[in-house]
Amino acid sequence: MPPPPQRTDGSAQQRATSPGSGPIGAANRPEGPAIWALGGGKGGIGKSFIATNLAVGAARAGYRVVLLDADLGGANLDTFLGCPRPTVSLGDFFRKNVATLDDLAMDTGVPGLSLIAGDADSLAAAAPHHSQKEKLIRHLRKISASLVIVDLGAGTSFNTLDLFNAADMGLVVTVPEPTAIQNCFSFIKSVTLRGLERRSGVKRREAMVGPLNRTLDPSDPEVQRALAKRIPLIINRARAAQAQTVVRTLGGLARRFLGSQVDLVGSVRDDPAARKSIQQMRPLLESGAADGAAADLQRLIRLLIGGDQAAAATAPTAADPQTTAAVEESKAIEESKAIEERLQLEHAVVRLRTEDLGSGGGIFTQVLSPEGRAVFSRATPYTDPFFQRISASPEERPRLHHLAIKRALSTGRIQLPARQLA
Ligand SMILES: Nc1ncnc2c1ncn2[C@@H]1O[C@H](COP(=O)(O)OP(=O)(O)OP(=O)(O)O)[C@@H](O)[C@H]1O
Ligand SMILES: [Mg+2]
Repeated sequence: MPPPPQRTDGSAQQRATSPGSGPIGAANRPEGPAIWALGGGKGGIGKSFIATNLAVGAARAGYRVVLLDADLGGANLDTFLGCPRPTVSLGDFFRKNVATLDDLAMDTGVPGLSLIAGDADSLAAAAPHHSQKEKLIRHLRKISASLVIVDLGAGTSFNTLDLFNAADMGLVVTVPEPTAIQNCFSFIKSVTLRGLERRSGVKRREAMVGPLNRTLDPSDPEVQRALAKRIPLIINRARAAQAQTVVRTLGGLARRFLGSQVDLVGSVRDDPAARKSIQQMRPLLESGAADGAAADLQRLIRLLIGGDQAAAATAPTAADPQTTAAVEESKAIEESKAIEERLQLEHAVVRLRTEDLGSGGGIFTQVLSPEGRAVFSRATPYTDPFFQRISASPEERPRLHHLAIKRALSTGRIQLPARQLA
């Protein structure tokens, strides 16, 4: 179990850079809160709806969350949350009326969740200068929270792309319509190019005359790094099977034209309850709904928060059934001394669980789908040749077996039934 992230009591934290690795979970991240950004090429596809509900879900799981409305010029998250009209907003930060972003954080009524409102009216907030944007990016890491969720506007302006690239995890949202998929691909291409340009200072756009991976110098380590980045996707207003089709299409485009990969984090169904929650200015996850889009959102949160469910076990803020289930699950895992890890495979995110059955037994391995269904199970007795070969101490055996199965899954030596993962 990874170490706990910062909870509301301000204890030590860790965070994540990719879905499944524990959100707020992985190494190689600068100090400060974990930052997730939600972007996507097209307007009206549900970025704000999903950002708001992820923020509510993470706060309910015990994280101190700040939702930042960075839809520069079209800010409306206060309405999504049913908050009173903000008295301060990002425009005040750009105009230097306040010194820190913490000065802008307002209560949302959801325990553990604050909002930094955007500024729908001011020109300064709609089009901040380069230096103002750079300052905003620097200050994101100074926000007092364990997780900052940045909701971006539509389009591919440099401000939007740079904020997206500044996040530890940039989640791309789309809906399953062809025009949205097209815009989504343009967005992915733009963030990739812009990321390269910012890091290297070289204008790649001018050099680009065809597919990115064939135009750019493949021996350039910056190019390799940018193209090796996997892009996490959320498909909104779609069922699981439909989402798989979208991911296949986008995955094909990304491979062919960029040389990079996309990963499906999850999908959220089209649901009248989602529309109603927005009309009522109350986040869906605060409305008591537990099925449909609400269940999909809960699943997304569990996946993104990953191994840090331990935080929920120690600091639950709500007794909703999903959170309680996660708490029970993580307690059970700790008691059984199982090793559990989320793995990002080519077509799915799964959980690999390795349980030590005791000295007389062996190892019990399970691979679980995002919904918790076992799609692979195997018991390996300690008399198995594997353990003779590695000649490890009894304490070391579960970890080494876990690593061996993980490698076999990643290289495709163990194949999972694709139909059960869909
Ligand atoms: N899962 C869903 N089921 C049904 N309706 C949805 C769902 N998600 C979003 N919507 C509808 O889509 C509308 C647009 O959502 P939202 O404002 O979150 O999009 P957006 O991508 O943030 O748009 P913009 O780019 O303009 O900021 C919502 O008002 C709601 O009516
Ligand atoms: Mg929006």
